[in-house]
Amino acid sequence: MYRTDYCGTLSAKDVGRRVRVCGWVQKQRDLGKLIFIDLRDRTGILQLAFDEQTEKALFDLAFSVRAETVVQASGIVRSRGEGAVNAQRATGEVEVAVDEFEILSVAQTPPFEIVEHSDVREELRFKYRYLDLRRPDLARNIIERHKIVKIARDFFDKEGFLEIETPILIKSTPEGARDYLVPSRIHPGAFYALPQSPQLYKQLLMLSGFDRYMQIAKCFRDEDLRADRQPEFTQLDLEMSFVEAEDVMDVNERFLAYLFREYLGKEIELPIRRIPWEEAMARYGSDKPDLRYGMELCDLSEIVRDCGFQVFSGAIAAGGCVMGVCVKGGAEQYSRKEIDRLTELAKTYRAKGLAFTRLGEETSSSFAKFLTNEEHQAILDRLDAHPGDLILIVADANKRVCQTALGAIRVAAADKLGLAKKDEFALCWVTDFPMFEYSEEEDRYVAMHHPFTCPRDEDLEYLKSDPGRVYAKAYDIVLNGNEVGGGSVRIHRFDVQEKVFDALSISEEEAKQKFGFLLEAFRYGAPPHAGLAFGLDRLVSLLLGLDAIRDCIAFPKMQNAMELLSGAPASVPKKALDELHISVQSEE
Ligand code: AMO
Ligand code: AMP
Repeated sequence: MYRTDYCGTLSAKDVGRRVRVCGWVQKQRDLGKLIFIDLRDRTGILQLAFDEQTEKALFDLAFSVRAETVVQASGIVRSRGEGAVNAQRATGEVEVAVDEFEILSVAQTPPFEIVEHSDVREELRFKYRYLDLRRPDLARNIIERHKIVKIARDFFDKEGFLEIETPILIKSTPEGARDYLVPSRIHPGAFYALPQSPQLYKQLLMLSGFDRYMQIAKCFRDEDLRADRQPEFTQLDLEMSFVEAEDVMDVNERFLAYLFREYLGKEIELPIRRIPWEEAMARYGSDKPDLRYGMELCDLSEIVRDCGFQVFSGAIAAGGCVMGVCVKGGAEQYSRKEIDRLTELAKTYRAKGLAFTRLGEETSSSFAKFLTNEEHQAILDRLDAHPGDLILIVADANKRVCQTALGAIRVAAADKLGLAKKDEFALCWVTDFPMFEYSEEEDRYVAMHHPFTCPRDEDLEYLKSDPGRVYAKAYDIVLNGNEVGGGSVRIHRFDVQEKVFDALSISEEEAKQKFGFLLEAFRYGAPPHAGLAFGLDRLVSLLLGLDAIRDCIAFPKMQNAMELLSGAPASVPKKALDELHISVQSEE
């Protein structure tokens, strides 16, 4: 037997026991007549002691070991002397008086020290990810992720969901991102796509009668990376038959309540607040509002409709609006330079400018001089602004520009003022998304969720005449300003599906070619169905308070989609390409 106990589990209760432990040498301390070795395994660190009672050969061996060497040690657990207790450590009251000791594998000096909260540069850590994963803080994330997945599996099992795997080599799914393609050897010129989600297959499973499906599913999307996005990520994916949106939301909020209780010991209030998309945009300037703080947006259009400031009155005359936000206590916090930075942020959301009034010791304003005192005061009143506050205003002919620019400013300001606390959790559903989004690039409507999402009953009549005013039976679950999941009721009627394709300018031919198999399946008896997928990496990283999802993924990709450890993606021998009927154009 290699070991009787994990290092991190031993404590005062074990004093007097004979144990055998294995692990990596964290540190060796040589005090002359005494040697201590801190031994690490995935559960924690244990002190091994070698002293005058230790056999000389063992003492010499202990003297020679270096960090990261793998060893096995046996001995009696004993209390540490008074004053030698390490209160920081779970095993800090005890040590093992070693009487058997063996080196199982020697270690070269690692490229970086294995310590918690390492500040070693990321490229190096990613290249040696297996060493990085020895760090207790990172290892903890991986272990906690397992616990969260286990809680999810248990919950959905109890609710009667069946875990069913769906294929990885498939035909392209319509989630909207770019596909990863895999060439076929047997069918020259043909490609599989890796699934962006199990969407089509889970719908087919509903047609087969598996009325409650779940899967921890790998998804692949060739998108630009961000802190909350990886090209390869995991969904907790669900689908249900004979249900409406309410049923899906109900089971999922009970899941979240269960998860928060079991995992964090926190109660969340049910039902979780629901905010229609239009309201979320108007009040928070975002379809994933962070509700840990207020700082809501205000429409100021009525106040400035006829004012003398052309930027404001002109935007309204052009069919747009003027909106503002009040940053409480922001006058002190924001210098002119920092307001300029906010202006740049607003511009990335297509705002043409950002007007401000700073109610500091002296009031300074970029626009008050263009208004009457009454108009300016009315704006301050409407925004509930008081001395010490900073107000920020965007005017635009397109109200979405006002909303999204101020929405981004709201988040940035809350961040700066420390209003978004990591250990506070605010959940909401955002419902009634627009069915379509106009794509300037493609000069047509595209599906905001995916083309199998069911329009609201009351909007069906506008599918042809005015797609822009059709809303969908779609819902996102939002945690602290992050979209942690999304789903919808699906179309199960053939005539509705045809109308949606029509609105999307997808021809019958194209629809048949792309998802003919699904459309045909619908002809053989389709139950009403609906579902949802959580972004598992996002959910885990928020529960653990991590800054990026890569910190809860064992082997993540870098910003440039590289997997530095193995060096993927990489070129392959010409023979392999030939077999796949592929020739590579050289990049000029
Ligand atoms: P959607 O595209 O909204 O819906 O994806 C569901 C959830 O997956 C997470 N997510 C990501 N996480 C990490 N990296 C990414 N690149 C990434 N992209 C998405 C998000 C998101 O909310 N088939 C539908 C679900 C359904 O309708 O049932 C779907 O995939 O947290
Ligand atoms: P100007 O007269 O161009 O100097 O503008 C006066 C103030 O209005 C400046 O602070 C500008 O940043 C601001 N401003 C300009 N365009 C807009 C806009 N579309 N929305 C809000 N403020 C604006």
